Amino acid sequence: MSSVLVDNIGELVTNGAGEGPLGLHRDAAVLVEEGRVAWVGPSAHAPAADRRVDVGGAAVLPGFVDSHAHLVFAGDRAAEFGARMAGAPYTGGGIRTTVGATRAATDEELRANLRRLRGEALRQGTTTMEIKSGYGLTVADEARSLRIAAEASGETTFLGAHVVPAEYADRPDDYVGLVCGPMLAAAAPYAKWIDVFCERGAFDVDQARAILASGQAARLGVRIHANQLGPGQGVQLGVELGAASVDHCTHLSDADVDALAGTAHRDGSGTRTVATLLPGAEFSTRSPYPDARRLLDAGVTVALATDCNPGSSYTSSMPFCVALAVREMRMTPAEAVWAATAGGARALRRDDIGILTPGARADLVVLDAPSYLHLAYRPGVPLIRQVMRNGVTP
Ligand code: NIG
Ligand code: FE
Repeated sequence: MSSVLVDNIGELVTNGAGEGPLGLHRDAAVLVEEGRVAWVGPSAHAPAADRRVDVGGAAVLPGFVDSHAHLVFAGDRAAEFGARMAGAPYTGGGIRTTVGATRAATDEELRANLRRLRGEALRQGTTTMEIKSGYGLTVADEARSLRIAAEASGETTFLGAHVVPAEYADRPDDYVGLVCGPMLAAAAPYAKWIDVFCERGAFDVDQARAILASGQAARLGVRIHANQLGPGQGVQLGVELGAASVDHCTHLSDADVDALAGTAHRDGSGTRTVATLLPGAEFSTRSPYPDARRLLDAGVTVALATDCNPGSSYTSSMPFCVALAVREMRMTPAEAVWAATAGGARALRRDDIGILTPGARADLVVLDAPSYLHLAYRPGVPLIRQVMRNGVTP
């Protein structure tokens, strides 16, 4: 059994026991064995290992857990972004443009684009990435999107209910029937989760409920895009169904916040519905940011994710999202780093990632900086010096 000691860590974020909400340790070391964290403690008391990596006083944190990304698509929508920056609104209507490009692409083109984005994210410290379908919107194209997604991640999400495709524009309920029936059946073998874009212009709350309930019957976990472009009932639907996460949460009523804050007891398991905030989307659609402070102060569990997609948020960078959340959403750097690591893990109902405590997966990031604070303090600077995934440098 070969072991690696990551040693001479100036500041270690564990998200477990330690100083403050991030469970900090100073002058620390992490012993990695068989892809897992085997020991964490002071450098001075570190056990022997087959190999030692001296990080020279740098900060080390759990790899980022990006719990919301749309990576199976072709083409881009730079012109749409340009038009928005000149004043055009974001409506989600451009999703159909990407659907056309995705249907026309070969498997290899989709795979290459996904690999490119996954590589970008990894270089920026993302060690786990959820990947949604949602740009195929036929039985065959959704199934192949998920098959390709599953080659890259175990966290795959069926989003056949992204929008109603043009060919079903005048019979949306037939499309909902297709999603709940043959499309779900073809997608489910490759998917862990089901998601719906519950928003005006996409799917209403009754359609979303029917689709998510079908997914639950097929043993998929529930997540939902909700309250992004305006107020609505999506957040409360997500809570009602015991969703692992409700995502966006940009336009929330007091009742929405109360529902999220009260979810710990809903399903009797003490498991919360996480509010996943996606500040890249507000950045790229020039919209007001969600109020993270209000959620945190109410006791809601908050995660941060990129929403990486070619329309509303074409960034794969979790450090960028951390910096935005601190500057624009009234999160402290510690809250933002927790939300981008442990919060993302909660949003995926995972207890083996987003933390660096014995038994956890050895997914970690070495910063080119002495403290996690630099992730927000030095925005736009490539601070990820080294990434370890399952105990190895990919
Ligand atoms: O999460 N909101 C719906 N889906 C994506 C946008 C997709 C697109 O514009 O292509 C989102 O923001
Ligand atoms: Fe999204």
